[in-house]
Amino acid sequence: MSLSELNLHFAISNHLKFSEIADGMTVAEVANQFSRCTIALQGAHVTTWQPQGQAPVIWLSPLARYIPSKSIRGGAPICWPWFGPHASDSKLSGHGYARTVPWRVLETRALPDGSTFLRFELIETVATQAQWPNSSTVQLEVTVGQTLRLALVTKNTGQRDFVLGEALHTYFQISDVAQTTIRGLEGTEYLDKVGDPARRTQQGGIVIESEVDRVYVNTAATCLIEDKGLNRTIHIAKSGSHSTVVWNPWTEKANKMGDFGEHGYRNMVCVESANAFENLVTVAAGETHQLTVEYSVESLA
Ligand code: BG6
Repeated sequence: MSLSELNLHFAISNHLKFSEIADGMTVAEVANQFSRCTIALQGAHVTTWQPQGQAPVIWLSPLARYIPSKSIRGGAPICWPWFGPHASDSKLSGHGYARTVPWRVLETRALPDGSTFLRFELIETVATQAQWPNSSTVQLEVTVGQTLRLALVTKNTGQRDFVLGEALHTYFQISDVAQTTIRGLEGTEYLDKVGDPARRTQQGGIVIESEVDRVYVNTAATCLIEDKGLNRTIHIAKSGSHSTVVWNPWTEKANKMGDFGEHGYRNMVCVESANAFENLVTVAAGETHQLTVEYSVESLA
């Protein structure tokens, strides 16, 4: 659909319009009485969310590039239908293909409470089917209001069950890692991916002082990012997700990526609501599975 057709069918005055940003990428731009949010049609990738009167809640790298078929650094990439490396084919992209292919807009609405609702669907092609030989649909529902709610909805439209890995791989903006503690995972078992993989149990809150790459398993807990520098707590509530990934690449890995910016790693932490490792989800034929997150912000007490 062209930009003018998108605006004709789906723009909503005082809520939503579609634009083309510098690199020819189409984005939905939401601005309502509560907050602003940008979503790229490539990957149905939420790239920004900023409630009124707040610093951005979602981190987007100052060097983020909008290149067809490449994931955007920052925002809320969708990892689907697998998380991390593919189980049997190392040639396939890590974290699946959903974040690098075009999605279509199915529906947009202004809700009675003043929020804005959008629904996207991944566009299947011969190339996506070659990577994921299952009959399925995947949609992302975005509700932009006082909070940001994202629902990733997978439907098995085929005759046989399939096993799904997934994550909403959200990068949160923080004042500085040294000012930040992540709570909610105390006492939870995790797979530590830094160095030799090991299983450990979280003691106390998470403080980031070096590379962190951990998959916490069997947890549906709400996580809090307490940020003394911005005097706020980001709440990450979820359902349909039993893993939480906490990731910060720290200096060396961030530099290698080339799209993080010099000090970018200090201003972000990924807290990803996921289903990975022993929490992969079996979606039975004809069934639907939904992973939902809701992000909100409050001042530190
Ligand atoms: C995290 C993984 O979810 O994503 C890390 O646990 C990985 O191992 C990170 O490095 C970023 O992945 P990518 O593919 O977006 O660079």
